[in-house]
Amino acid sequence: VPTPDSAWLIGEFRAFERSLALRAAIELDLFTRIGAGVDTIGALAKACRASQRGLRVLCDHLAIQGHLVKRGARYTLALHARLYLTTASPAYLGSAVKFFADDSTVAAFCGLRRSVKRGAAPRAKADWIEYARSMAPIAQPVAEFVATALKLKRDAPLQVLDIAAGHGLYGLAIAAKYSAAEIFALDSRAVLRTARKNARQTGLAERFHPIPGDAFKTGFGGPYDLVLTANFAHHLDESENIRLFRKSRAALKPAGQMVVIDFVLHPDRVSPLPDASFALTLLATSAHGNLYTFREYSNMLRTAGFRRVRQANQRGLGRCMLIASR
Ligand SMILES: C[S@@+](CC[C@H](N)C(=O)[O-])C[C@H]1O[C@@H](n2cnc3c(N)ncnc32)[C@H](O)[C@@H]1O
Repeated sequence: VPTPDSAWLIGEFRAFERSLALRAAIELDLFTRIGAGVDTIGALAKACRASQRGLRVLCDHLAIQGHLVKRGARYTLALHARLYLTTASPAYLGSAVKFFADDSTVAAFCGLRRSVKRGAAPRAKADWIEYARSMAPIAQPVAEFVATALKLKRDAPLQVLDIAAGHGLYGLAIAAKYSAAEIFALDSRAVLRTARKNARQTGLAERFHPIPGDAFKTGFGGPYDLVLTANFAHHLDESENIRLFRKSRAALKPAGQMVVIDFVLHPDRVSPLPDASFALTLLATSAHGNLYTFREYSNMLRTAGFRRVRQANQRGLGRCMLIASR
């Protein structure tokens, strides 16, 4: 019989220290600097304009946690740090820590007891401008999967509405894959600035048309062949989702499809992991957010008038794609 592990439990009590240590290191761009050969405390202190004592403690902590390797007085990067935490790497995703562990998210978790009592966060708090700026590396592979999994005709005309587009990468991945696709991206004006920038950087600006506004108030235009919404439905309650799906359906051509990209829970609501654990993040940070099962999504889409709903899973990327036929 395994003995109960109090050391593991104490580690759990202190888990927030690990996230915030990583955040501090990313904010100091420590991993990029070490990757570039600035690998002693003295050199790092100069490069980061930080105290030697502070850096020594932080770097030793990162070595203890396996992000750095310490040899004598020098530090090198563990493989995952080289791949994901140096800005020189094309797979860099350090920016995401700015959203996952920013002050407002940490503060929201400090108020978790209150949110549990009320069943919702006191104020919905999310910095969507920061999200659009910092989450692109996480969205890119999912967006590419979606564009491929859609299996549409490569050069046929395709009118696409991307609701709550954020950084715009979902629509842009479709534009990159389908040469006659025109993407209409709806989000707030401030958030769409990042999407426009991404469209310019990928050379797709001519086929990228921002619609600044609110998904519940702004006209969708259309008609569209495809209406997609990624990671938006989990911020809405069931009645809001049904409203959104109904409005989307009305903006589709008769043979059009609605695509919902999101976490989809198994019926037990505690798997798959780690997706299912995001329900707690939503409780802490959003007013109505929730994760839904396939059956719940299917019911919402059917109530909104869609005929057939199917699911395409993407192993390892942590999102599902629901495709509803008008
Ligand atoms: C979690 S992000 C998703 C962004 C992007 N689709 C993605 O999957 O990464 C949620 C987005 O919804 C946008 N949003 C929130 N409320 C909205 C509303 N009422 N109408 C349009 N967009 C909204 C936010 O600005 C933010 O960009």
